[in-house]
Amino acid sequence: MIYGEKCYLRPIERDDLPRFVRWFGDPEVRRHLRPYLPFSLAQEERWYERLLVQIERQEDVTFAIETNEGVHIGNVGLHNINWKDRNAELGIVIGEKEYWSQGYGTDAIRALLGMAFREMNLHRVYLRVDGDNPRAIRCYEKVGFRREGTLRQTVFREGAYRDQHLMSILRGEFE
Ligand SMILES: CC(C)(COP(=O)(O)OP(=O)(O)OC[C@H]1O[C@@H](n2cnc3c(N)ncnc32)[C@H](O)[C@@H]1OP(=O)(O)O)[C@@H](O)C(=O)NCCC(=O)NCCS
Repeated sequence: MIYGEKCYLRPIERDDLPRFVRWFGDPEVRRHLRPYLPFSLAQEERWYERLLVQIERQEDVTFAIETNEGVHIGNVGLHNINWKDRNAELGIVIGEKEYWSQGYGTDAIRALLGMAFREMNLHRVYLRVDGDNPRAIRCYEKVGFRREGTLRQTVFREGAYRDQHLMSILRGEFE
């Protein structure tokens, strides 16, 4: 386990997959994520098989976020790990909507960054966030991510092209 204050991170198990079908079936949960269609259980199983390969190759670390009470509320991970330049891309979803805006996202990201910088010896963690996702932007800013720039009209959603921000945090800024 990787321990935060309100939650801990644990490896994802095959038994978790039906929960993902429910989470990503909800358009509100999916709204600011890259997948824009709901997934079937068979698709989640394929995703999981690919994830296991990526974890074995040390290209990815993805964890389940569980509250200290043992409720699995979301997932968080580092993707596209680049061991030469020592950076990775962060992704997070809290699929149980009633847990939004209670500090779990901030706590889970802090726990993951502790591992990224103190154990994996990464130097930079970056992410892309929709410009119209103020909850996520606030969460990342609380952790210490800084805005690096705007990718103008880079995603098409709800009938229009939308901006995304590139944000990052360096090891020294986290410590
Ligand atoms: C984005 C997400 C990971 C954040 O996790 P979370 O647990 O909800 O976030 P936190 O509670 O730690 O922090 C959110 C902050 O935004 C604030 N906030 C919520 N809605 C807001 C709004 N409309 N405008 C401004 N701030 C807002 C909260 O009050 C909180 O700040 P505070 O602690 O200063 O009060 C989670 O909401 C989520 O998974 N959403 C759906 C998927 C998603 O958007 N993923 C990110 C893709 S880049």
